[in-house]
Amino acid sequence: MTTEEARHRIQDLSQQIEAHNRRYYVDANPIISDYDFDMLLEELIRLEKEFPELLKPDSPSQRVGGAITKVFETVTHRYPMRSLANTYSKEEVEAFDERIRKQIPDGVTYICELKYDGVAVSLTYENGLLTLGATRGDGNQGDDITTNLKTVRSIPIRLQGDFPAHFDIRGEVFMPRDAFEKLNESKEAAGEELLANPRNTTAGTLKMQDSSVVAARKLDCYLYALMGDDLPFANHYDNMMKAQDWGFKVPGYIARCNTLDEVFDFMAKWEKDRATLPFDIDGVVIKVNDYALQEELGYTAKSPRWAIAYKFKAQQETARLLSVSYQVGRTGAVTPVANLSPVLIAGTTVKRASVHNAAQMEKLDLHEGDLLKVEKGGDIIPKIVGVVEEERPPGARKVYFIHECPECKTPLVQPEGEAAHYCPNASGCPPQIVGRMVHFIARKAMDIEGLGEETIELLFEKGLIRNYGDLYDLTYDRLLGLEKTIPGEDGGKGKKISIREKTAENIMAGLEASKNIPFERVLFALGIRFVGETVAAKLAFHFGNIDALAHADFEELVSIHEIGEAIANSVVAFFAEEKNQRIIEHLQSKGLQFSVNEEALEGRSDNLNGSTFVVSGVFEGIDRDDLKKLIAKNGGKVVSSVSSKTSYLVAGDNMGPAKKEKAMELGVPVIDIGTLNQLIRGEEISKT
Ligand code: IVH
Repeated sequence: MTTEEARHRIQDLSQQIEAHNRRYYVDANPIISDYDFDMLLEELIRLEKEFPELLKPDSPSQRVGGAITKVFETVTHRYPMRSLANTYSKEEVEAFDERIRKQIPDGVTYICELKYDGVAVSLTYENGLLTLGATRGDGNQGDDITTNLKTVRSIPIRLQGDFPAHFDIRGEVFMPRDAFEKLNESKEAAGEELLANPRNTTAGTLKMQDSSVVAARKLDCYLYALMGDDLPFANHYDNMMKAQDWGFKVPGYIARCNTLDEVFDFMAKWEKDRATLPFDIDGVVIKVNDYALQEELGYTAKSPRWAIAYKFKAQQETARLLSVSYQVGRTGAVTPVANLSPVLIAGTTVKRASVHNAAQMEKLDLHEGDLLKVEKGGDIIPKIVGVVEEERPPGARKVYFIHECPECKTPLVQPEGEAAHYCPNASGCPPQIVGRMVHFIARKAMDIEGLGEETIELLFEKGLIRNYGDLYDLTYDRLLGLEKTIPGEDGGKGKKISIREKTAENIMAGLEASKNIPFERVLFALGIRFVGETVAAKLAFHFGNIDALAHADFEELVSIHEIGEAIANSVVAFFAEEKNQRIIEHLQSKGLQFSVNEEALEGRSDNLNGSTFVVSGVFEGIDRDDLKKLIAKNGGKVVSSVSSKTSYLVAGDNMGPAKKEKAMELGVPVIDIGTLNQLIRGEEISKT
């Protein structure tokens, strides 16, 4: 094929693919099979590989991702991304309407839309091409996540029809509920921690470095606002309908209302029917349609006066208490869990809810067979918010918190000042042993590929491992062929796990690779109580190696900045136990890292200890994430918004005015990078 022929074919394929893409993802009306679609895409990718000079930034091959973004550049929004005033009451919506009618007595039309519970993005189109996609950030500046947004199939990369040459469009990226549930099912199968809700998952996904992972996550996008100087119509509704013709996904759940009653009908309908939608919403947005009237009404400091968000209350249902069971975590903390008669809340069946601790149980005054008020907010774990006392079965007995560990029968203890009860049998209580090993292998700890919670349970039950030290005595031959059946829930179909050649190989390779994990993460993996990731890093860099840490006494530990008494006690107690000493010696003999790498130590100091920084704007010669790391490396803490607790605002170029104003208002010193460097070197600066 000549370059010229390839050029034509690529153009033809690109057009076909985008048209099919739109049919599938925007119109929900595909006309070819998935297989045929994949064949077209494959051919395009192949040709672009063969003729790299023909690869264009708007090629539909971008949809599959692959490009890696190490740092997301900060961009300033052409139009600030404001938020909406929120309300939970109908009366306030009424007051909103009254305020508007006072200023504009006649001819106000409202557009009611759903309030999608996702992540706001701003998309810029120049001559029909998507040139920028950004997060909201602080409203003035966000992150450039164009590469990741190009993988969202419902966001057009190239427009069709008669679109304005320059405009921005705003919308919400979200993860449909079934995609979220599938993702969590695969996490569960892999023994990984579950994701809390679709919104947080969407936010996390959009900030991933590898766009091919984003592409696989099945995000979707609905658009809800156009901004530009030459939009076709002078009102919101007509423009949104027009945007549909250009290829945007504009949801059909939208109503034009001329009276407040129509607005109330829309609110009531969706508050009732929200569970029938395939995605989460958290309310309804009401907007004045006409742009001229919007201008007339204007803006407050934060939000438009011409729009309001009516937010739904968390969904509540009632369910009967069947029993209370108790879960024992890796630290021995015992959590009461209410087992409920199944109840449908917000589209999912709820059978269990956490009661948190004994005090909460007492406060609820739980009795056998009680009718409970169960609430489901944005998170997957539902809450019990109360008991319907009138519905208590006559003669029902009160439910008391247990005194013994449900797993090993050891009497429970409640340390002073703590809400939780603990099983003190750390070394003999099975869920604690397994829990510690699961923590040890986790991604943020030793990151041992091939091992998950179920495999750990299997190895423990077969007697191959009693603590995480034993993991390094496993051999390929001992692993091969092990299997067990996990019973299904409620007598449902169970599943069988077995270790075959490939898994055994993976586990052995994963264990070997973990010997390079740096000391600070090994220390975190040991699972010392109160020693999370940050504290582990602090201790590792302070002491340099495990022996120095193991010999540190309480006084030395508490003298370290941000190490409190609880942490110090816990560290001392951990190393005092002979069993722990033996496990560490064993791990040392197996080649794990027990001292900090010299390179990692370089450039560290405590000079910023006790100071909190906000970093804003762009900096010449260093990107913002590296700057944040530099601050952390020198003992400082970086937070995202300015408050009275902020010590310094580090200002770069093009910083948004909001942060600066806030800093001025609160008297927080605004410094440049030169001054920051002085602080890092431990020099005095004048605070004016
Ligand atoms: S309009 C100037 N419409 O809610 C107002 N926002 O607090 C621009 N949202 O950040 C927003 N659904 O992320 C608008 N149909 C909708 C929306 C919506 C969800 C989110 C958006 C925004 C937040 C406002």
